[in-house]
Amino acid sequence: MPENILIAIAWPYANAEIHVGNITGSHLPGDIVARYHRLKGDQVLMVSGTDSHGTPVTIAADREGVSVESVYKKYHAGFLEVFQKAGITYDLFTSTHTQNHFKVSQSIFLALKKNGFLFTGIEPQWYSPSAGKFLPDRFVEGTCYICGYAEARSDQCDQCGNVLEAAKLINPRSKVDGSTPELRETEHFYIDLSKLEPDVKNFLRERASHMRDTVIGESLGKIEAEGLKPRPITRDLDWGIPVPVEGWEGKCLYVWFEAVIGYLSAAIEWSLISDGNWKDWWVNPSAKQYHFIGKDNIFFHTSLWPAQLMGVGDQFVEIFNGEKGVKLTLPYDVPANQFMNMEGQKISGSHHWGVWGLDFLSRYDPDALRYYLTVNMPENKDSDWDWGEFVALNNNQLVATWGNLANRMLSFCYKNWDGRVPDIDPANLREADLNLLATIENGFVTVANEFSAIHLRAALAEAMRLSTEVNRYIDANAPWTSIKTDREAASLTVYTALKAIDSLKVLFAPVLPFTSEKLHIFLGYSTPLFGEQYVEPVQDTLGEHTVLRYKPVLNESGAAFWQPSQLAPGQSLSQPGPLFKKLDESVAAAERDRMG
Ligand code: MF3
Ligand code: ZN
Repeated sequence: MPENILIAIAWPYANAEIHVGNITGSHLPGDIVARYHRLKGDQVLMVSGTDSHGTPVTIAADREGVSVESVYKKYHAGFLEVFQKAGITYDLFTSTHTQNHFKVSQSIFLALKKNGFLFTGIEPQWYSPSAGKFLPDRFVEGTCYICGYAEARSDQCDQCGNVLEAAKLINPRSKVDGSTPELRETEHFYIDLSKLEPDVKNFLRERASHMRDTVIGESLGKIEAEGLKPRPITRDLDWGIPVPVEGWEGKCLYVWFEAVIGYLSAAIEWSLISDGNWKDWWVNPSAKQYHFIGKDNIFFHTSLWPAQLMGVGDQFVEIFNGEKGVKLTLPYDVPANQFMNMEGQKISGSHHWGVWGLDFLSRYDPDALRYYLTVNMPENKDSDWDWGEFVALNNNQLVATWGNLANRMLSFCYKNWDGRVPDIDPANLREADLNLLATIENGFVTVANEFSAIHLRAALAEAMRLSTEVNRYIDANAPWTSIKTDREAASLTVYTALKAIDSLKVLFAPVLPFTSEKLHIFLGYSTPLFGEQYVEPVQDTLGEHTVLRYKPVLNESGAAFWQPSQLAPGQSLSQPGPLFKKLDESVAAAERDRMG
């Protein structure tokens, strides 16, 4: 039975370009899992978009001396380009600055209000007398009252990872002009997370056995120790989504409160522009929703967002389109990654310490990037990008083990069997041939198990191990020797090896889609493994914007690709060529010089 899989990926703030840490942190793992399920024949919907509101974006606009609209549009355009080049196949990559997202977010707010999970309160907030306005969230920095980190933001500490109460910050200073803000009273809406705490705990306990220990520790562990407190969900800001209550003009919804709603609003937007129905993933208890995020986003996805969903009950759909008694599906897993560092130090835009996606892809191929970022994915602990290791793994594993295997067998066959798969009789296959094919066939179970459990490093390692087995088989049977004395034996070896390569192509495809697609064509197939990405303008009452979309492949035979090779004896091949590029040793030093 095909499953309905929602791949929900953290929405990047429109305040910086995408770097390799962002790619390996959330976009790439989400894409790998999406592609794996598409190959299996599941119904996949992968969504995200630009997080265009909140103080991170306003601060970037101040820094660059441009309007918030123009800063958000600039970074948004860069996101579309980098995801297209890296093959991050969003069914829809949109933005939070759309009319649809405003409406969905305001409906969620109103549903929570109707169900009694919101209350208003007057609290002291940081205010800048020099600027004459309130300074929410990142507009104020100071010392963390939990861990003592001096550069904490008033809403979150990057050192200890805690979500902070702004007024408790020590030594506050304004990010705008460095002045010392003062506390002034202001009124806000709060979400009563303490009322929802028992539900959130149950939700997490039910999922604890399949969620990562790091994520359960950061969520359930923390709630059990400290409980859940009410949080303010409105801000004194004019850039964002207006609070849909009379008398609240001039205040907006808190960026985190509305950005997580994007997972729902993007699915609805996708329904409006395609033939699909968002309810297949959102009103469907058997749909599985995965949230790919970085560790700094855990609280918002394991506590705040599920609490919002549970709090709205059946009221969101009723307010949104009048249907009664319809509840929304809850997340299934939140496989948050840790961080990737750069040559031993934290990646930093302001210190120009990092590797940026578009810059990297202007010099190297996307699959070389995807390979290294998967081998080094920070699944359970922080990892490190090392240029020397990038070159070594590219040359010793990707090129030498997998690339050469495919290339030398295809070229050898193309040349000596007239551009066709040897036309052997499968009944003549020898024991060693059958053993190899059985080993590779089993990969469709072992690799699948790792992909399903979101163990992407392990999945790739298992596919690589299987390609080593094929290399060993070829070396043992040396068809370049036997072709001179026993053409039938050489034909059986080449047929077996190509069949194994044809299967490996699929096992590698979620991680290495560009080269698997190339190989797929070399092997003589015409229906592609994957669909196409494209950028499209969308009319919106908030102004025209562009989105990234994905057109799934229409597999005529209706069969899923995730199965052992069906390669037929005698099938025509196309002219093969190399899949990967060997990199010169000097690349590492040259790239290190570019940084910093
Ligand atoms: N913009 C946030 C960040 O870059 C992530 C938001 S995820 C969302 O850390 F779901 F809330 F959108
Ligand atoms: Zn701290």
